[in-house]
Amino acid sequence: MNDRHYAYMLRCGDNSIYSGYTNNLNKRIKAHNEGKGAKYTKARRPVSLAYFELFSNKSDAMRRENEYKKLTRTKKHELIKNGGIIMCEYELSKMKNYEEVFWLNPDIGKHNEIPFKLEDIEEAEKRLKRFAPYIMKAFPETIITEGIIESTLVQIPKMKEYLCSYDVVNIEGKLFLKCDNQLAVSGSVKARGGVYEVLKLAEKIAIDAGMLTMDYDYSILTEDRFKELFSKYRVAVGSTGNLGLSIGIISAKLGFGVTVHMSSDAREWKKELLREKGATVVEYPDDYQIAVAEGRKEALDDPYCHFVDDEGSSDLFLGYSVAAKRLVKQLEDANIAVDKKHPLFVYIPCGVGGAPGGITFGLKEMFGDNVHVFFSEPTHAPCMMLGLMTKKHDEISVSDIGLDGKTVADGLAVGRPSKLVGSIMQTLLDGSFTIDDNRLYKILSKLSELENIKLEPSACASFIGPGLVVKSNRYEYIKNATHILWATGGSMVPKDEMDSYINTCRCD
Ligand SMILES: Cc1ncc(COP(=O)(O)O)c(C=O)c1O
Repeated sequence: MNDRHYAYMLRCGDNSIYSGYTNNLNKRIKAHNEGKGAKYTKARRPVSLAYFELFSNKSDAMRRENEYKKLTRTKKHELIKNGGIIMCEYELSKMKNYEEVFWLNPDIGKHNEIPFKLEDIEEAEKRLKRFAPYIMKAFPETIITEGIIESTLVQIPKMKEYLCSYDVVNIEGKLFLKCDNQLAVSGSVKARGGVYEVLKLAEKIAIDAGMLTMDYDYSILTEDRFKELFSKYRVAVGSTGNLGLSIGIISAKLGFGVTVHMSSDAREWKKELLREKGATVVEYPDDYQIAVAEGRKEALDDPYCHFVDDEGSSDLFLGYSVAAKRLVKQLEDANIAVDKKHPLFVYIPCGVGGAPGGITFGLKEMFGDNVHVFFSEPTHAPCMMLGLMTKKHDEISVSDIGLDGKTVADGLAVGRPSKLVGSIMQTLLDGSFTIDDNRLYKILSKLSELENIKLEPSACASFIGPGLVVKSNRYEYIKNATHILWATGGSMVPKDEMDSYINTCRCD
């Protein structure tokens, strides 16, 4: 006999609240979304679960439903907001079936102790400025940006048109691509945090050795005597690919010995490129977590080895956050206002969480409530969404709910999220969504065809975000919004590999 009886509230498309009773929550929400639940919800789709309470008998649940109905609108919203954990059974059941899920975070804006502050971002930015003369000399392609590793913001009108027609949605406002796929040094978002952490390490070693002070021209770091100094140290990292590339390239350039522990998902060309640059690559037949654990072990055994901890490094996090500070200026230069009536929406692909987490923290420091950030993950590896929904963070893995973690989005093939990032995102992130691998291929191929922009699969995960947000009917002033899709990588992908991605899906 079914002893699960629910009183529930749904948030409707027009932001109103509908109350009901059911003994099968998933089935009932599905019915509402198909227009078969109630007249009221039929006209206000899509609906999403906002709150529920579970009872062991029907009469108690129905009594509670009646109580919801008598509450004022404000009281209903209060109950939803303060109701603690919203049990996400509906979303979880879809997740378990590898279906795409759009999840809105009920804890957005709540009080939370965050272990970083604005000054930390400013300090990181200053450090990167000190290193600019070195970067310019060591990586001449950065002369044009005076040694600052930064990407452009470009509009993608044809892609916007395609997304509107494919998803049957009117995305008003501007749609930009943040081109981290073009970042110097390693062609991905990882050239932010990864490079920053190694530079910070080099600075400390050189200062401690009495060979550098902060007011020097850091281009001297290209001299052989510094390479000799750094060669006494090692750097180790575990990676799905792109973090390894950025750590490997910058470490080898400075003169460090560097080992990159690569998960089975890492692409062959990334391993080859790293070996070419002088890094030692160790391959594992296992997933990313094992690669990270091996990197950690290597560093534990060697006091001269620095471990770049993708699962919890503050330096990586802050290196990424600087992007937000620079974005303020880029938006000003493009005459884009960000305020209450002109909200900014940013969509970022998420793996373990460091890169999107650091950027989100920075964005919230810069724009406060006027920015809304969403993460995107593959349906086969939605680790951050799972950690946030359940509030279990690194204590739950996608394999715990039966998912295989296998995806063409190699950079996002992560089973367990960062605890550091997850606990910070719990109150900063507006929501998160998952995307099917087939859709990733379609987007990759269309973007190449319509805008001649080539991204790797992971970097295409965010493109369905604006449509989902518009359809959610959740945001006032959405018509005036600026949407930014964070293109996290792609320019280093070899041509034949890119062609094979594009040809996997020639779509209409
Ligand atoms: C292209 C790309 N995008 C996004 C990410 C996600 O970054 P994180 O793992 O820090 O969440 C990665 C990670 O390697 C990546 O390679």
